[in-house]
Amino acid sequence: MPTTVSLGNTAVQVTSLGVGTWSWGDRLFWDYGKGYHQTQLREAFQASVEAGINFFDTAEVYGRGESERLLGEFAQQSNVTVACATKYFPFPWRVTRQSVAKALTESLERLQVSSIPLYQVHVPFSFFMKQETLMAALAEEVQQGRIQAVGVSNYSASQMQKAYEQLQKRGIPLASNQVRYSLLNRKIESKGVLQTAQQLGVTVIAYSPLAQGLLTGKYTGEQRPTGIRRLDARFKPSGVSQISPVIHSLQHLAEKYQKTPAQIALNWLMMQGVIPIPGAKNAHQAQQNAGALGWQLQPEDTQELTRVSEPWLES
Ligand SMILES: NC(=O)c1ccc[n+]([C@@H]2O[C@H](COP(=O)([O-])OP(=O)(O)OC[C@H]3O[C@@H](n4cnc5c(N)ncnc54)[C@H](OP(=O)(O)O)[C@@H]3O)[C@@H](O)[C@H]2O)c1
Repeated sequence: MPTTVSLGNTAVQVTSLGVGTWSWGDRLFWDYGKGYHQTQLREAFQASVEAGINFFDTAEVYGRGESERLLGEFAQQSNVTVACATKYFPFPWRVTRQSVAKALTESLERLQVSSIPLYQVHVPFSFFMKQETLMAALAEEVQQGRIQAVGVSNYSASQMQKAYEQLQKRGIPLASNQVRYSLLNRKIESKGVLQTAQQLGVTVIAYSPLAQGLLTGKYTGEQRPTGIRRLDARFKPSGVSQISPVIHSLQHLAEKYQKTPAQIALNWLMMQGVIPIPGAKNAHQAQQNAGALGWQLQPEDTQELTRVSEPWLES
């Protein structure tokens, strides 16, 4: 069974690799209902749980609540207890502490639970509700037991530091910062987010860890994804050719370790001390991603990947 790690300085324990569920029920960015359906997602959930993964990431905005609903249903029908983390979106019309409580109530209902291990602020937007008020509302929810830990997402080093201090005043540790991080996006290293998180004891949760499928090596320029990703320059022939040094390294190491490029890319992230949450649309992807656990890249191979992906420190 995979080992578990604590989220920051909290008692919440999760597996060192999770599953991202943005694509579950989402028809705007992903193609839910076309290439994959509820059946495939149920199988992805089951395959992850069977591989020993207990950590699932969702958000109230994914598929307008459908991701939470599906995850809640799968978890309810499973005989294994899983940790479902979700996110609060600071919409401009949410101006009072009560709006946090209401959003959480609705998420808990969709997830069919009375409490969740981690509640994250999706983005660091402060429209009419001050961060201080938001953090106070979240601390209150921890005290009431509806959430076990507070996390943030897409916070810069200084925003994370502030959130940390605001929670600390109320005796609550900031558990995590969920940020984009992969071999093709290493900005959190150059912008000081990773280092600050380590200093504060805040866990970094890495989203889009496969660069939305690019790091699997399956997209070649001619072979392009459907949906909005088709418009993304990185998936066009010129984009794919720019990333070829990284893909070649992943393929070379995949052969050496008898793994897949995706498993190598995820293992590199875990070697940086973060928790990747790759998205999976079916059992095959879920099984493959779970196969990034239980072994380790040797230091010289981790270094090779770190070196070849240096151009992505700034992007
Ligand atoms: N906090 C935030 O603002 C934020 C933002 C983005 C994401 N997230 C979270 O992070 C999670 C993961 O990020 P992501 O979905 O953007 O990107 P990702 O995990 O890098 O890529 C996921 C996509 O890659 C493909 N894929 C995954 N595993 C594969 C495998 N083993 N073999 C082949 N293809 C595979 C699938 O799409 P295809 O099969 O269609 O290629 C899948 O939907 C999300 O689900 C969400 O929970 C959070």
